[in-house]
Amino acid sequence: MKAVVCTKYGPPDVLQLKEVNKPSPKRNEVCIRIYASAVTASDIYIRGSRIPLRFWLPMRLILGFTKPRQPIIGMVLAGEIESVGQDVRQFKAGDQVYGVTGLGMGCYAQYKCMRESDSMRGCLSHKPANISFEEATAAAYGGLLALQRVEEGKIQRGHKVLIYGASGTSGTMAVQLAKYYGAEVTAVCGTRNMELVKGLGADKVIDYTNDEDARAIDRYDLMLDTAGKAKSSRIKELCRQALNPTGQSISIDDGKLELKSERLAKLSALIEAGSIKPVIDRIYPMDRIAEAHEYVEQGRKRGGVAITIEQD
Ligand SMILES: NC(=O)c1ccc[n+]([C@@H]2O[C@H](COP(=O)([O-])OP(=O)(O)OC[C@H]3O[C@@H](n4cnc5c(N)ncnc54)[C@H](OP(=O)(O)O)[C@@H]3O)[C@@H](O)[C@H]2O)c1
Repeated sequence: MKAVVCTKYGPPDVLQLKEVNKPSPKRNEVCIRIYASAVTASDIYIRGSRIPLRFWLPMRLILGFTKPRQPIIGMVLAGEIESVGQDVRQFKAGDQVYGVTGLGMGCYAQYKCMRESDSMRGCLSHKPANISFEEATAAAYGGLLALQRVEEGKIQRGHKVLIYGASGTSGTMAVQLAKYYGAEVTAVCGTRNMELVKGLGADKVIDYTNDEDARAIDRYDLMLDTAGKAKSSRIKELCRQALNPTGQSISIDDGKLELKSERLAKLSALIEAGSIKPVIDRIYPMDRIAEAHEYVEQGRKRGGVAITIEQD
């Protein structure tokens, strides 16, 4: 099969399209023919090995010292079940699925085998029928991250919720999910993304690059930072100070992404009901994945960036 192999840690051109052995499923695994993958902020950290010093040793122990132990990186897939192991019960050949493999990685390839049930190496669910495979990758990654944090925030109808970094893969999903749970949503993003974010249903939009917009800051029951702790602004600090005394602040970086197929299934139901819709910024073919990495590395993506995996 064709796969994009990460030959060592380094710039995007360490990613090379190669012919590798096709995997076959164990008794409790499914084999997925992948039609689309995503280039995520996590893939950029892994490929570039741009890991903060205090995490350097543990991450290298997990990932591999001079190059990733799993040479095929990529954590998100959407595709079709090609075959199943003899103990598999929930999926059958031909089912359209989407999922996240976490540090199990292996999604920049034509095929991936993974367990049908949740584990540290991934979660899988039936793909929403009304979106493309590429859109499904943004739904899986951004949706899983956003839904986890939205659930932690225990949003009640009428709560005033501020979503900081509303234009990223998880931010675009978080705005829609908070609206779905009945919140009054204020979204914070940059100037060029204000229309996009308004279109997702935000009640108010604040521009983090315009200090004048500080006047629009209200009091909030929940601040959800979907941009991550490394991305800040004066407006972000002012929003944090504007929390109600009982208000809660949650960052997308507070702990690990939980790989739960139950959440993926919930996202599928919401997407099929038309309550939320993933946002896709760009789609690249597999042989231009280095360009996709260059783009995502700039940290400016609007929604998700997908890779189409061509099948022979
Ligand atoms: N906990 C976990 O397991 C986990 C896993 C994966 C990712 N994460 C975190 O999630 C974060 C977001 O990832 P993502 O893929 O959704 O998006 P991303 O690609 O990291 O971010 C892109 C978006 O961030 C916006 N942005 C950049 N600088 C900003 C700033 N100073 N203030 C507000 N917005 C800013 C950009 O809009 P503009 O162009 O308008 O600035 C762009 O739309 C990551 O950076 C990482 O910290 C956590």
